[in-house]
Amino acid sequence: MEIVVPEEFKHLYVKSVERPVVKIPDPVLRKIAAEVTGLTKKTNFLIDEMMRIMRKANGVGLAAPQVGISQRLFVMAPLDFRPTALINPKIIKAEGEQIGQEGCLSIPGLYGDVKRYDYIEVEAMDRKGRELIFELEGMPARVAQHEIDHLDGVLFIDKVNLATLHWEDPELHSRDED
Ligand code: NI
Repeated sequence: MEIVVPEEFKHLYVKSVERPVVKIPDPVLRKIAAEVTGLTKKTNFLIDEMMRIMRKANGVGLAAPQVGISQRLFVMAPLDFRPTALINPKIIKAEGEQIGQEGCLSIPGLYGDVKRYDYIEVEAMDRKGRELIFELEGMPARVAQHEIDHLDGVLFIDKVNLATLHWEDPELHSRDED
């Protein structure tokens, strides 16, 4: 689907120091990201940068391709959830379904309902290199699925219920964008 950005939202798509997140139609958002092969100082620096950018943008999650790095890692911080980095995440179990509104820092201003699994178990490495299994339900499960999609070049507009897709000033939204 081709997204035509309305005139009044175009300023949100200009990359700047204040808005460093990569926006559509940058091809990095459509690439399959590569596995992270080793945790280096560079990885840690990247995670810190992503946490900072996510916070500043009022996001609940951010995937590495959204800062132009095609690697399989993302950060998330849904409400009541400690900011966490998940490296090489893999969904190993999925159950139930939920429908909820999503937006994306790479497609600012556009929102719509997406159907997701309600409960997932994600195997991933944390920033200390520990292999962990994250049991996520509801909102955190939604955020993780949205971010893992980013690592496969998939955006929420690929899965959205088109009847619910709409433009809205992101300033009126808080903490529901990833
Ligand atoms: Ni997103």
